[in-house]
Amino acid sequence: MSSSSLVCLTLLLVSFTISEARDYLVGGDDRAWRVPPTTNDSLNRWAEKNRFQVGDSLVWKYDAAKDSVLQVTREAYLSCNRSSPVAEHRDGTAVVELHRSGAYYFISGAEGACEQGEKLIVVVMSERHSLRGGLALGPGLTEFEGPAVAPTSGASTTVVLKSGVAAALLVLGIIL
Ligand SMILES: *[C@@H]1O[C@H](CO)[C@@H](O)[C@H](O)[C@H]1NC(C)=O
Ligand SMILES: *[C@@H]1O[C@H](CO)[C@@H](O)[C@H](O)[C@H]1NC(C)=O
Repeated sequence: MSSSSLVCLTLLLVSFTISEARDYLVGGDDRAWRVPPTTNDSLNRWAEKNRFQVGDSLVWKYDAAKDSVLQVTREAYLSCNRSSPVAEHRDGTAVVELHRSGAYYFISGAEGACEQGEKLIVVVMSERHSLRGGLALGPGLTEFEGPAVAPTSGASTTVVLKSGVAAALLVLGIIL
């Protein structure tokens, strides 16, 4: 294999590896941010079905005259306390980028709505647990993904990347 085709393959693999950020419409449709018809936690059921990753975004569509989206702390989520949100979205379309792993808490800004179930917890996976974009090439490449790799671990990252690429080339060699 010539070195230029090696470079091409490597670039190809790296571009496969950097997974694309996704936008998730909360609840799966334009009318989902409202008091749920049954008190069965439908928004959180929706959230549990998705694998959110760092870099993805949540998108809300709602009637700005009647509702809003408040990002709150865990305590405020549990008590439906709207008095001091972390962030507030009132213009009818909210976009929140998930820039770290862990839990995010959202409640409705409408009077009494959170108490009736209009609330959402989204848990963002850490990169280490992510499988998306890994192409089943083993842990090497999937671990080299995004900012969770601390800058101080540069040396070991390179090793991981190299072994990942080597494994990828091996797989490609078998395919081609
Ligand atoms: C729960 O909510 C969903 C909507 O997300 C609905 O389809 C389902 O029928 C509800 N289940 C019950 C038991 O009410
Ligand atoms: C709501 O949160 C604010 C600020 O954190 C706090 O001062 C207030 O006592 C809380 N209200 C209730 C009812 O818990």
